[in-house]
Amino acid sequence: MSRGLAVVTGATAGIGREFAEQLGGRGYDLLLVARDGDRLARTASTIGAAHGVEAEAFPADLTLDDDVTRLAERIAGSPGLAILINNAGFGTQGRLAEAAPELQVAMVRLHTLAPMRLTQAALPVMLRNRAGAVVNVSSVASFIYSAGNANYCATKAYLTTFSEGVAAELAGTGVQVQALCPGFTHTEFHSRMAAMPARLPRYAWMTARDVVRHSLRCLDRGGPTICIPGMRFRFLVAAIRLSPRRLIGWVSRRRYDRV
Ligand SMILES: NC(=O)c1ccc[n+]([C@@H]2O[C@H](COP(=O)([O-])OP(=O)(O)OC[C@H]3O[C@@H](n4cnc5c(N)ncnc54)[C@H](OP(=O)(O)O)[C@@H]3O)[C@@H](O)[C@H]2O)c1
Repeated sequence: MSRGLAVVTGATAGIGREFAEQLGGRGYDLLLVARDGDRLARTASTIGAAHGVEAEAFPADLTLDDDVTRLAERIAGSPGLAILINNAGFGTQGRLAEAAPELQVAMVRLHTLAPMRLTQAALPVMLRNRAGAVVNVSSVASFIYSAGNANYCATKAYLTTFSEGVAAELAGTGVQVQALCPGFTHTEFHSRMAAMPARLPRYAWMTARDVVRHSLRCLDRGGPTICIPGMRFRFLVAAIRLSPRRLIGWVSRRRYDRV
């Protein structure tokens, strides 16, 4: 029997695809969202067949208001909604003054406006059910600011802070919100922005499988709201939080000047 519906945005690759796999494996029906409709249909049929669950492809570009509205209406009208994974995202590299403005606007829409609207559509259903979870895929980058990544860090900071605020509103309701904050993870993310982070040792990377396992384990345990996969990244974030903000700017400028 189905455990309810899980909606996953950015479900054709990387962390989102892994969420679809693991949630399908746990017996959730799936509503999978991404722009590339053919790839999405293949992903839905492969995962649906592998786990014996309903998996529907919902092609949408979540930088577009109309597509977000369509998906929000679908979510609000799904009484069996159990999980929403706001995962779709992308990175860019370069100084804001030199970046393509339309891409930076798209990033703000995809990382902030879309998750906010989809969360708002999901919560009334989950509150009626007195159960459910929203996972906002943020980043370790949400705890820093960085030359060459100003908008990315700022949009992820929004997602982390937004998740903490909504989680505080939901205390005692049976509905959970998680800000999932991965560090470097092997996915298509870096190749899509045509930039591999320079000189990173192998141990600095995680797999999407381990990131998603950790996220779902955090949900199983009922928290914490901020979920950071990998001991090395938990240490890093603890160090960042203890560091003066000016030091973060100095380190990021030095790194950026060397790239
Ligand atoms: N990989 C890392 O090192 C890392 C670290 C920290 C946080 N993250 C975060 O993790 C999330 C997932 O990233 P990933 O690494 O798994 O990236 P990925 O492998 O590049 O996958 C991105 C997914 O998002 C979809 N997508 C992109 N733009 C979209 C749009 N406008 N509308 C709907 N779907 C869209 C893509 O499919 P289509 O192109 O078909 O739309 C794809 O399914 C992102 O929010 C990212 O910021 C990644």
